[in-house]
Amino acid sequence: MSIELPTLSDAEDVEGRRVLVRAGLNVPIQDGVVANDFRIKKALETIDNLRGRGAKVLIVSHLGRDPKETLMPVYERIKRDVPDMQFARNFSSDETDALLAGMNDGDVVMFENVRATSDEKENDPDFAKQLAGLADIYVNDAFAASHRAHASIVGIPEHIPGFAGKQLEREITELGEALTPESPSLFIVGGAKFETKAPILRMALETYDTCFVGGALANDFLKAKGYNVGASLVSDDAAGITDILEHERLMLPTDVIAVNGADVARTCAVDDVHDDEKILDIGPESVAALMIKVREAKSILWNGPMGFYEGGYNESTESIAEAVAQGDNQSIVGGGDTVAAIEKLGLAHQFTFLSTGGGAMLDFLADAKLPGVEALQNSQR
Ligand code: 3PG
Repeated sequence: MSIELPTLSDAEDVEGRRVLVRAGLNVPIQDGVVANDFRIKKALETIDNLRGRGAKVLIVSHLGRDPKETLMPVYERIKRDVPDMQFARNFSSDETDALLAGMNDGDVVMFENVRATSDEKENDPDFAKQLAGLADIYVNDAFAASHRAHASIVGIPEHIPGFAGKQLEREITELGEALTPESPSLFIVGGAKFETKAPILRMALETYDTCFVGGALANDFLKAKGYNVGASLVSDDAAGITDILEHERLMLPTDVIAVNGADVARTCAVDDVHDDEKILDIGPESVAALMIKVREAKSILWNGPMGFYEGGYNESTESIAEAVAQGDNQSIVGGGDTVAAIEKLGLAHQFTFLSTGGGAMLDFLADAKLPGVEALQNSQR
């Protein structure tokens, strides 16, 4: 499916003009240092494009959910690629005004966390106008935040002409492809929270030949089928699961890795989980059955790990990543842990596309729309 978007190549006259780039730089920070720079590397293409064309580039992003979180570690990391870049601690002060006034063509200034005030999340009209007033042109390259109707995503392009950055453009093109897969097609979904994954799963059940559900999400299905899931993680809200439980395209694990309170792990059938056990991964029989589907698939869409990845239960996720990488298929993957697993294995180049989006990918694939994309399409030119 092709979606029309104004892109960077439509923004013809950027030389000497201020371009505000809403980048997706919400990356994991550990001990004050960027722990994974996947999103940063993806953001650099648009920044370099604009610098190379003589624009004065203003970078705006959020980081985390605590308004006090600072983007300084991200700034330090980007400076390795953009050495002369400067940092503005706020959007409005004499210091910031002076910094912006002193910019030459090709210079880059990065601002502090745009979520430092609640105005961003509330899409406060005055705040949006203030941000828009800093620049002549707006570029949204933050696909991962484009499902949020926040000031820096939907508010700014109401005031100045808005365009999609390279990464946003690529995400919309590649994920658009995933909406019309070639048969045999396979959708793999894991992670947790049925309510957040239900819309994409419903889309996939209409569109993909096989839909495999793993991760904690599978616990909801096993529970709804009447199996004992012991002390496993289940969703607070699994409303509507019974409507899809017997869907002919749905494929569930047949065995799991169950771990008890004393940390003893065993492989067992899905109907043999004990009350004191947690399901923390899919089992070898399930992996083998899924591998057969992976090998025959022409199109694969995958979001979410198969096990409790951050807790070290990564075996099935990594085996599947290797099998998808080796196959002759179109492979589109998203979700932080899933992409991290692929990167860790050094397999990124063997996938068709790794999305920078988590929630944004889920929302976009559910109905081919995002507030940030619509804001660009409706932007005044
Ligand atoms: C992201 O950067 O991945 C998204 O914006 C998710 O963060 P949020 O749920 O805090 O918006």
